[in-house]
Amino acid sequence: MIQHCYESSIWIKQFENSNEFNQDVLNTTKAIRAMTPEPIADHNVDLWVSDNMHIIRDRFIDGFEALCLEYNETSDFDVDSMNMVNPMKYGDFKSCHTHDVIDAFGVYYLNESNEGGKLRLYDPRFLNKKSFSKQTYIEIKPKTGLMVVAPYYIWHEVTPYLGKETRYSLVCNMVFNNVD
Ligand SMILES: [Fe+2]
Repeated sequence: MIQHCYESSIWIKQFENSNEFNQDVLNTTKAIRAMTPEPIADHNVDLWVSDNMHIIRDRFIDGFEALCLEYNETSDFDVDSMNMVNPMKYGDFKSCHTHDVIDAFGVYYLNESNEGGKLRLYDPRFLNKKSFSKQTYIEIKPKTGLMVVAPYYIWHEVTPYLGKETRYSLVCNMVFNNVD
């Protein structure tokens, strides 16, 4: 019989917010950016500086908890130690990578991107042919209020962003406590 092996589960959720909420979170993010030295994406920052940012934090926690449930992992984790603001300007991209120190990563988009800047999440198996692989990656178009949470080993990249306005996202990394 067919058994499903080596599946990779990813949590994706589109939140519908008021314009006021979206604008407030964007303004707070820009204020954090203004206080942080460049390159900002290399700096750990405290994102949870307002009530609305705490709502985003709770959403990240919901996503990480759902992922833990899916993988039978404990929900004893930390989401406060390694977080970033990630602004993308015209031409910016991120090459394909995984993470090592953290256990899972999450991204939350603050504005839409119609011109590139897509998140590609790859099948983590080592593939050198296309046979027997239904889909080698999924591609996610950033949209305001969209959150993606995935295990550290998922290869991912961001395609070149070609929009005129700076596109903002928040990155929240999760680390398990007391893992032997
Ligand atoms: Fe990453």
